[in-house]
Amino acid sequence: MKNRIVFATGNEGKLREIRMILADLDAELISMKEAGADGPIEENGTTFEENALIKARTVCERTGLPTLADDSGLVIDYLGGAPGVYSARFLGEDTPHSVKNRVILERLKDAAPGERAARFVCACACVLPDGRERVVTATMEGEIAYETAGANGFGYDPIFYLPEYGCTSAELSPEEKNRISHRGKALRMMEEELGKLL
Ligand code: IMP
Repeated sequence: MKNRIVFATGNEGKLREIRMILADLDAELISMKEAGADGPIEENGTTFEENALIKARTVCERTGLPTLADDSGLVIDYLGGAPGVYSARFLGEDTPHSVKNRVILERLKDAAPGERAARFVCACACVLPDGRERVVTATMEGEIAYETAGANGFGYDPIFYLPEYGCTSAELSPEEKNRISHRGKALRMMEEELGKLL
């Protein structure tokens, strides 16, 4: 029988991307809900790596199954690294991203072209029931756009401009985004680790 691996996220947009990226994984990837392990997890780490490990450890304890988790966010240099690990909680967890994105554009209205550097960061952690743990991290570099564009992706994608593509990450097809994204890179690195671990 195939190994079952839980992915510790309640975010449907993310889960869709993850299933696509890990399509070739020789294991059945199940959601937290499918594993019966839904429920809040206190993400009180101060780094992406810590938070990914907290999520993976918690869900591994709840299910007794190998668990993957990621923690990701947008780091904006002009805002001193904000929203960073607070990306999901920025202006309140339930505030629509249209509002969050508008507020960020407003806060960067005086930022010159050379001052708009930003990156998406993704840490991916794996925790096994026997206690073994791995964490990998990857980034996607870009800039904060001057206005929103695009309807693909989720979250901050409409304001994340990729100079070498001449568009935002919300204007990329899902396949294109997965090829270059922080999450795509981190998950492919983790896929390699899993090959050695399982
Ligand atoms: P997490 O679920 O705690 O990892 O929070 C990640 C948050 O960062 C999401 O809710 C989004 O706001 C933002 N984020 C992470 N990755 C992306 C992405 O690929 N596109 C847009 N926003 C992202």
